Amino acid sequence: MWFSETKPMLVCMEQRLTFPDRQRSLAQYRLRAEGYDSELAAFEPIRHSAIAQLGLNLGDTVLDAGCGTGLSFEPLQRAVGAGGGIIGVEQSADMLSKAQDRISELGWVNVTLLNTPAELASTPTLADAALFHFTHDILRNPAAISHMMHCLKPGARVVAAGLQWANPWAFATNWCVMLAAMYSTTSLEGLDKPWSYLADYLGKFEVSTTSMQGVYIASGVLMMPFDLARATASASLMPSTPADKMPPA
Ligand SMILES: C[S@@+](CC[C@H](N)C(=O)[O-])C[C@H]1O[C@@H](n2cnc3c(N)ncnc32)[C@H](O)[C@@H]1O
Repeated sequence: MWFSETKPMLVCMEQRLTFPDRQRSLAQYRLRAEGYDSELAAFEPIRHSAIAQLGLNLGDTVLDAGCGTGLSFEPLQRAVGAGGGIIGVEQSADMLSKAQDRISELGWVNVTLLNTPAELASTPTLADAALFHFTHDILRNPAAISHMMHCLKPGARVVAAGLQWANPWAFATNWCVMLAAMYSTTSLEGLDKPWSYLADYLGKFEVSTTSMQGVYIASGVLMMPFDLARATASASLMPSTPADKMPPA
């Protein structure tokens, strides 16, 4: 009796501790797409800090990995100007259609949207910078990180921000982090150092924390050549799914 009731809960927790799951993520964001923008309002200061740390110049091209509904596009546009460009990579068609609405409404012509998992994205050009804003499922997918790094110019600036475990005794913060992570990611794996795969590729790497240590902002500069041995070891942890085996979004 006890086992039959708790088993689904245990299975759910077990799933949460393994690699990100594309199908669960698509289902999660299919449900969230409509109300997503208002849910994220509280995180705007973090978004603005993260984008400031990208140090963008007019004319730059910036990759927005897991761009969602395009909430970062407006501040990114201000930084790169009409002569620059934004490449939004997003696997959820539901989230991306909101991003497309935003682009049409504001009349931007310098945004390229790619409806694809990050690990398979084929970008039209190498970017000068990359943003990973609240994209834990991408950061914990070594194949996706490897692929995204190959879409950047040497020396590109990279910034990631998102949830992380605070110190073990910060129970209240960690409770909030767990609830928020279960709502917005498919894996709790790596929440102690969500940036660890990214760090293999970056020099001048720095991490700061905010929100009672429950949120980090990590930044660095793409080293070229990066430590291929370390990066390959990480990338081989999770095989990427061949395009023809990918179920539709
Ligand atoms: C919490 S939302 C963040 C959206 C946006 N970056 C923001 O700050 O508002 C995470 C997004 O990552 C997307 N995502 C998750 N795994 C992905 C993958 N492997 N490739 C591309 N997008 C992915 C989800 O569909 C979702 O839109």
